[in-house]
Amino acid sequence: MPTHLKSLHDFSKEALTSFIDLAIKLKTERQQGVIHRQLNGKTIGLIFEKPSTRTRVSFEAAMYGLGGQVIFLSGRDTQLARSEPLKDMARVMARYVDGMVVRTFGQDVVEELAGYSSVPVINALTDLHHPCQILSDIMTVIEKKGAIQDLKIAWVGDGNNMANSWIQAAGRLGFELILACPEGYAPNPEILATARAEAAKPITLLRDPAQAVQEADVINVDVWASMGQESEQEERLTVFQKYQVNDQLLALAPETAIVLHCLPAHRGEEITDEVLESARCVAFDQAENKMHMHKAILAQLIGE
Ligand code: CP
Ligand code: NVA
Repeated sequence: MPTHLKSLHDFSKEALTSFIDLAIKLKTERQQGVIHRQLNGKTIGLIFEKPSTRTRVSFEAAMYGLGGQVIFLSGRDTQLARSEPLKDMARVMARYVDGMVVRTFGQDVVEELAGYSSVPVINALTDLHHPCQILSDIMTVIEKKGAIQDLKIAWVGDGNNMANSWIQAAGRLGFELILACPEGYAPNPEILATARAEAAKPITLLRDPAQAVQEADVINVDVWASMGQESEQEERLTVFQKYQVNDQLLALAPETAIVLHCLPAHRGEEITDEVLESARCVAFDQAENKMHMHKAILAQLIGE
């Protein structure tokens, strides 16, 4: 049976930690000029039904950086766009490639592909989860702050795919997470309940962003309207006004708190230009770490 990465909940604390440790090791070795060839002769297929800059390029760079090869498929160019069943797509692709990296809308698409695929399926973002992003974000937190276990991680804004994956990570890895989301925009309740049931530290859901950041070591922010929610953009601009991460909000947080944004950012909406461009914001280190983390994920899931 292949090991799929559908959500962070697929992995134990030890397995999640080993992705992070390996990503840090591969990053260090690359800086030292080590040439990696762990995936020589392997090929992955990228199936993307939503736009991407970072995730696509970092997965491609990661695969080439380990000696492997990539076939990119835009969803609209495959027979999926003409309603070929996912279970057929999964079994055909698995005859050609050693792993599939999938960005799509429904989590059920990733689940079904994984259910029929004899090679690993990796979730590169669905409406419900963004697991690879959160792994590279945790790697970034560890680089900047040391171990994550004793940190307070804040989430300010929409209870979206990123928030859901942070919740799963908090449950598994055992760090404190404080989310501030407007009424009607809370994270997925089942994911929250499952994570809380196993969590060693509190996972708190609030309305007030000021309260969420007041003791935070790390402040996470993401767009107010995710891909697929473009028709809600206007309404969300109003609902989320007081959730902007700006200098006023950061003045309420510890001076040492850092800001994470997975990008792309909408300056003047969820984050100000001043904050995004400030030394406190580590968004571009996060973006770089996606490549190192994707190497670790690919090496562990499709390497020998
Ligand atoms: N952070 C992230 O997933 O970016 P892309 O949408 O550009 O892949
Ligand atoms: N929540 C965002 C993340 C983008 C990387 C989205 O789904 O569009």
